Amino acid sequence: MNSHRQSHTLASAPGLGRAPRAAHGLAALTAAVRAAVGQRADWQDTGRLVASALKQHLPPPNILTAEQRTGDPETYKSEVLHSEPDGSFSIVALVWLPGHVTPIHDHVTWRVFGVIQGIEWEELFELDEHRSCLVEAGYRLNRAGEVSGFAPPGAIHRVRNAGDLAAISIHVYGTDVTRIGSSVRRYYDLPVQPSMPGSLNRMNRREGG
Ligand SMILES: [Fe+2]
Repeated sequence: MNSHRQSHTLASAPGLGRAPRAAHGLAALTAAVRAAVGQRADWQDTGRLVASALKQHLPPPNILTAEQRTGDPETYKSEVLHSEPDGSFSIVALVWLPGHVTPIHDHVTWRVFGVIQGIEWEELFELDEHRSCLVEAGYRLNRAGEVSGFAPPGAIHRVRNAGDLAAISIHVYGTDVTRIGSSVRRYYDLPVQPSMPGSLNRMNRREGG
């Protein structure tokens, strides 16, 4: 999710591609997300509903082919698994090798993700417009089987593979990433300041399950 620019969400990312064949579990996940989005709740609640759907239908790593699961040594790689015809959501798989990391960024819409292999480290930031900097706001270690998500505003983050093996995660975005090119709203090339002593905690994110 410019390397989200290389990215994380990214239809414009190098290596972005469509999964070559229908994968195990995708139909059930797609139907569950469609039902959640169909409730036409606000972004916060939609994120929670979709997170619950993803938690219940988190697919196994073989939703990707063996070749796709090997990743790309140059950057994390995305595979669009599904784009809803009405543009209301997309489902994207990301494959990260050890050391792969996104730039600091936020998104144009709600986003939910679940890790299906490996470990991902996520850092959250807040924008301090007066000082023209970012301030550390939290962190989270996401392991296989864990689902989380958020909606703008105030969801600036950076994600990296925190393990020694390839990590794979499934991301659901409230837009058609193949139409708009990426779900990223902005990349933040700003200095990062530490939070106030004692105030940096593990993120309390909006989770749906
Ligand atoms: Fe992101």
